[in-house]
Amino acid sequence: MSKSAGFCQGCLHYVFDYETPKTLVIPNIRLGFAFRFTQFLVVLYVVGYVCVVQKAYQVTDSVISSVTTKVKGFALTNASDMDPRLWDVADYVIPPQGDHSVFVMTNMVVTPEQTQSRCAELPSPSTTCTDDCDCREGYSDPRGSGIQTGLCVNYSLTVQTCEVLSWCPLEIDTELPQRAQLAAAENFTMLIKNSITYPMFKFYRRNILPHVNSSYLKRCKFSRATDPDCPIFRLKDIVSEAGEDFQDMAVKGGVLGIIIDWSCDLDWWAGKCYPKYSFRRLDNKHPDNNVAPGYNFRFAKYYKAPDGEETRTLIKAYGIRFDIIVFGTAGKFGIVPTIVNLGAALSFLSLVPVVSDWFMLTCTRKRDLYGKLKATYMAEDTVAEDVSMGTSYGTQ
Ligand SMILES: *[C@@H]1O[C@H](CO)[C@@H](O)[C@H](O)[C@H]1NC(C)=O
Repeated sequence: MSKSAGFCQGCLHYVFDYETPKTLVIPNIRLGFAFRFTQFLVVLYVVGYVCVVQKAYQVTDSVISSVTTKVKGFALTNASDMDPRLWDVADYVIPPQGDHSVFVMTNMVVTPEQTQSRCAELPSPSTTCTDDCDCREGYSDPRGSGIQTGLCVNYSLTVQTCEVLSWCPLEIDTELPQRAQLAAAENFTMLIKNSITYPMFKFYRRNILPHVNSSYLKRCKFSRATDPDCPIFRLKDIVSEAGEDFQDMAVKGGVLGIIIDWSCDLDWWAGKCYPKYSFRRLDNKHPDNNVAPGYNFRFAKYYKAPDGEETRTLIKAYGIRFDIIVFGTAGKFGIVPTIVNLGAALSFLSLVPVVSDWFMLTCTRKRDLYGKLKATYMAEDTVAEDVSMGTSYGTQ
């Protein structure tokens, strides 16, 4: 036989030799236990985690939602120099309607009867002056109150400041009451109407549940323990569920999240699909060094004075903004994810023998014997009798 012919035969062997797995049965309790245990872990993972916890057999869809709200309640304020003033919803909800959020005013600094005129700027190191030379005509500081006229005038008996052209008298917002003026807001109620849909499953629902009738809706109030389905919330309850004190928060204002979770399993064997409410404060209650805490903004109401002059009432409003956040994912049995995850589970099971073999070849006492038995190398011209030598190993 020439050398090249031998080489060629090697190639042929490589391409055309047939390989077949041979089953080795090992009656070893520890090994058998390791194998079954690994198998059990894989089945536990597939059934427990993939199917039960992750519900990987489902197709999922995200929620689409709309929210409308209605706040109700009255408050009476008692400014010393005025008659009691009644506040209703049109006074304290600003703006009257919003997108997924409601602002309820709880505290304020009111500056009435402002007109376009000239007055002394509020005193600060950059606005106090001794004579007109300290003031610049036409200069406006964005943090100031208006445009300077170039005159230095008396702010009080002892202080002189630059005069400004502005809405006068100026607002003095350091006089914020330390007890919320609309303290009664804690008893206001808010009705939240939330309609959702999962378009992929053609599923529609409201947070006013089908079994609720209008007489129940007239008298119910949300309570996690007794009335978890009622969509009417007392503001104080919401704030305390978020772990805050209403009167505390009402002084400087803040932002509070009303979170509605519509996560549902829509398979017929699963439970009903109800919203779950939770509440949390979204702004920082104690900002670093207590700089710029709370939430406030200004707005004005304009009117014409009897003499025809344009006049306004400026209100710096402090209050709680309720942000309504709706989220959720619905799942329903789907054939495609089921097949995909079944395939993944089966391929995991096929890894079990690899683990058991590793255990057999490293951790058992007879690992050398098992190693020899596991693979048998056979020469082509071995006679039939020699093949039986595999059994003779067992008696070694
Ligand atoms: C809110 O209502 C309760 C009970 O009706 C009452 O005791 C409480 O004084 C009210 N709160 C305010 C600030 O008016």
